[in-house]
Amino acid sequence: MSRADRFLKALRGEPVDTTPVWIMRQAGRYLPEYRATRARAGDFLTLCKTPDLACEVTLQPIDRLEVDAAILFSDILIPLEGMGVPVSFPNEGPRLEPVRDEAGIDALRVPDPNAEFPFVYEAIRRIRRGLDGRVPLIGFAGAPFTMLTYVVEGQTGKQFAETKRLLFTAPALAHRLLQKLTDTVGIYLAAQVEAGAQVLQLFDSWVGQLGPDDFRTFAAPYVKQLIERLQPLGAPVIYFANDGGSLLGDAARLGASALGVDWRTPLDEARAKVGDAITLQGNLDPCALFAPIPEIERRAAEILRRAGGKRHIFNLGHGILPGTPPEHAVALVETVHRLGLVKA
Ligand code: CP3
Repeated sequence: MSRADRFLKALRGEPVDTTPVWIMRQAGRYLPEYRATRARAGDFLTLCKTPDLACEVTLQPIDRLEVDAAILFSDILIPLEGMGVPVSFPNEGPRLEPVRDEAGIDALRVPDPNAEFPFVYEAIRRIRRGLDGRVPLIGFAGAPFTMLTYVVEGQTGKQFAETKRLLFTAPALAHRLLQKLTDTVGIYLAAQVEAGAQVLQLFDSWVGQLGPDDFRTFAAPYVKQLIERLQPLGAPVIYFANDGGSLLGDAARLGASALGVDWRTPLDEARAKVGDAITLQGNLDPCALFAPIPEIERRAAEILRRAGGKRHIFNLGHGILPGTPPEHAVALVETVHRLGLVKA
């Protein structure tokens, strides 16, 4: 068995030689080579929309870190542009023209992905060629609820008051928006698989803002519907419900092959909530990578102990942060591969 297949095997619950590991945002500002390519592109969205540059940054961490999967370099907000919501990144974080009323929501289009986002699919084809079978490629999108928060808030939410105002005062309209987002994300991801993505991750970054009843009403049914539509394509789906410790039991019933777990929920507690028929992915606190390497090793060992050798993909509990020493990320991957060795 080799690096090329341990990630896919762990997703399917098959035996692996060692615990596979990749890092959310593994191509990013902590890498000097990313910052150099980003400077050449000029701005972040140009980087996302230029296939040879998006391919270049996707591949940068693969051999430097020795991770077991690549993730497409793009952003969850890209599909919104095709729906009629322009996106910009003026400095810190995204800005969109918020859409909150019935006329605005009804005017949103479900785009033709190959016509609107050809750069995404061209990047995927180039990345697959560049990877040449070294590791599988993960495609991704935002989950419908998280996408709704960006449409309604126009930025990364703080209290998510506008989002909840829509959900709680005009639920039928919120459901119409969620259905349009689900349709968009569904065809956007199906085309990613067609172009060569082998696994899909759904990022539900802000779903932890919802209480359990609202999760069951406004988030879970759309994730379930999406996964049902994607299932026939054969690419396993990872559902990452950030800050979703209390939602894990429900999340395990949406048809995903794996659940991402943030660092707030120990993996043995997560396992007790989800049963044995699903893979767990996580969950080192991204800030732990600021600590000295022996402390990183201690924390990685503790996570592996709590994972108990059962259906586990190592990752951080959220994206790697700018300012992380790259050699600490290298040490983490090396530690997981060394300590995660499964004894035959
Ligand atoms: O994981 C990877 O390496 C793939 C690349 C990736 C990016 N964004 C690149 C990026 C992925 C998977 C995303 C997903 C994404 N984008 C999410 C979900 C994951 C999560 O963090 O919860 C969200 C919420 C977004 C929206 C977004 N994009 C925000 C809020 C920001 C600004 C915050 C920040 O970190 O600056 C971005 C910008 C962004 N997306 C950057 C990168 C590398 C930084 C842009 C830069 O180079 O300046």
